[in-house]
Amino acid sequence: MPGSHEVDWVSLELAAQEAMRHAYAPYSRFPVGAAAFTEDGRLVTGCNVENASYGLTLCAECTLVGALQMSGGGRLTAFYCVDGEGNVLMPCGRCRQLLYEHRAPGMQLMTVSGIKTMDQVLPDAFGPENLEAEEH
Ligand code: THU
Repeated sequence: MPGSHEVDWVSLELAAQEAMRHAYAPYSRFPVGAAAFTEDGRLVTGCNVENASYGLTLCAECTLVGALQMSGGGRLTAFYCVDGEGNVLMPCGRCRQLLYEHRAPGMQLMTVSGIKTMDQVLPDAFGPENLEAEEH
């Protein structure tokens, strides 16, 4: 598991802030940007994309996961999310589940209370392992 000293958190923060500037958030006026590193060293980013049918809004993490898949897939090692002022933002509950699916072992997140692991922000999570447990 990579130690937190190995993660370039400053680059991740800057990439999340840059991504945030691409947000489409005319309804909430709450732009969000997200950035993550992959196991093979790629940087993937995302921004929230809202919709006139409000419930269809894509969080920044949704578009980040799309970017992950479109750029070769793989797993996320470190994640950073920011609000419109560039401050750290916690991923919503749904997006913690999204990130969990694509986490590398020991994936770290910058949070409002410091660096945490995926398992700390979504303990005892439901995940792909559960679907492998039984024949259906
Ligand atoms: N939002 C995200 O993009 N990610 C989160 O984890 C929290 C919420 C967006 C969705 C919506 O466009 C705006 O923030 C206000 O909820």
